[in-house]
Amino acid sequence: MPLAATGTLVAEASAERRAVAAFNIITLEHAEAVIEGAEACGSPVILQVSQNAVKFHHGRLAPLARAAVESARLASVPVALHLDHVTASPLLRQAPDCGFSSAMFDASRLPYEDNLAATREAAEWAHRNGIWLEAELGQVGGKDGAAPLGAHEPGARTDPLEARDFVAATGVDALAVAVGTSHAMTTRTARLDHGLLARLRDALDVPLVLHGSSGVPDDELRRAVAAGIGKINVGTGLNIAMTGAVRGHLADDPRVVDPRKYLAAGRTAMSRTAAAVIATLESAATPAGARTSAGT
Ligand code: G3H
Ligand code: ZN
Repeated sequence: MPLAATGTLVAEASAERRAVAAFNIITLEHAEAVIEGAEACGSPVILQVSQNAVKFHHGRLAPLARAAVESARLASVPVALHLDHVTASPLLRQAPDCGFSSAMFDASRLPYEDNLAATREAAEWAHRNGIWLEAELGQVGGKDGAAPLGAHEPGARTDPLEARDFVAATGVDALAVAVGTSHAMTTRTARLDHGLLARLRDALDVPLVLHGSSGVPDDELRRAVAAGIGKINVGTGLNIAMTGAVRGHLADDPRVVDPRKYLAAGRTAMSRTAAAVIATLESAATPAGARTSAGT
């Protein structure tokens, strides 16, 4: 199947009151596992490569991207590629040639005016080059080992009126919102601010994106989808599954030396995790016109 476009997948999902799952991949096995999980559900999916993953691959985007593109083309479900949490413009500029239809430009740690100016410039470039651009306002937190911001710290939550101005001024296609999640959680204990989510949905006419979704329990994920989140980002959950399976395999068979043995276990575990997330999102989909209020 030809590569899908993130913007199309998210627009189609939003029209049907669904959300698209977007998984962060680090290795070829991640890409294979996510696609396998999506195929098991018969659902479209987004493969994300973060700037940190590029850094892990010695600063090179193309090798992993090309592997993801070829894996996506062999998939039986629509698969799109998204470049995630980009802060470096030179990396953003590699997106079109590496098969990405979308990117998240992350200037969320900058003061509001600086975030706005940098994001506007990135969006202008992106749109000239056929890239759907996501940005972040408010801080989801937890990136790169940073402690999550307290709920009441300045910038810890996305302000709806500020967000409306930000989207209008930057022209971004989607907005990552800070509503109670944090990156890299290893327990699924996050509680979302559903009232804020409802106000953001009412204030904005672009798709909303939930980052740090590994820490969100299934019932909260369903409520987020019902409230209008259109893209759900999951990374750590895959890594928990992979590492647990590899660790278990190595403990069970201390003499193993063939990495295919334990990587297969890791890949299978990631595939199950991806399928479970997608199934949760699908179970949250509401008939068109029947979206529930996030506050209810
Ligand atoms: O952009 C990627 C996500 O926000 C992933 O967050 O690793 O906490 O699931 P997570
Ligand atoms: Zn994120």
